Amino acid sequence: MLAFAEITEVPVVDPANQSSHSALGLSFGLPFDLQDWIDEHRHELKPPVANRLLWSGADMDVMIVGGGTSRIDFHDDPHPEFFHQLEGSMVLRLMDGPGRPPRDIEILAGEVFLLPSHVRHSPRRVDPAGIGLVVEFIRPPGVVDGFEWFCERCYHLLHRVEVQVGSIVKDLPPLFAAFSADLEARTCEKCGEVHPGSG
Ligand SMILES: [Fe+2]
Repeated sequence: MLAFAEITEVPVVDPANQSSHSALGLSFGLPFDLQDWIDEHRHELKPPVANRLLWSGADMDVMIVGGGTSRIDFHDDPHPEFFHQLEGSMVLRLMDGPGRPPRDIEILAGEVFLLPSHVRHSPRRVDPAGIGLVVEFIRPPGVVDGFEWFCERCYHLLHRVEVQVGSIVKDLPPLFAAFSADLEARTCEKCGEVHPGSG
């Protein structure tokens, strides 16, 4: 058997030969050109979903997220979230705590940002030309996400739901629709302001 240093030529995996890389256990495939992928899927990165997973079945969700959407909820993620804005810009609105006004962080093309767990955040991707990469952890059983809505006048916490998120793409829209339909949840018990319930 040759020592590693004696191997002068290591073969490169042939992308055209499927069996060569599946034998290596590369179930998520080989490297690919992300810009080509974005150009091919650009039409799918539009509202209302504007979100595509790059790989399924991994322990992390790596997503490409388009622009032209604006959420009104604030997400309480039990894990950190990684943002890399590829094109255009996005705004991450952060809550400083109930009763205190939010603050915006702008993430510009080329910039990366790591959001710590549990920091309440609301992605405002109002730039329709925005394209970003987001990485989130898969939540283990029993680890729940929180979604919160705040009064737009006095920033009192109006409503919070906690769910076990299985699919970021599929599980969230029903939560948002339920809040929009719930006048009682949208009405501030502190100042009486009614949250519009949508962006
Ligand atoms: Fe209020």
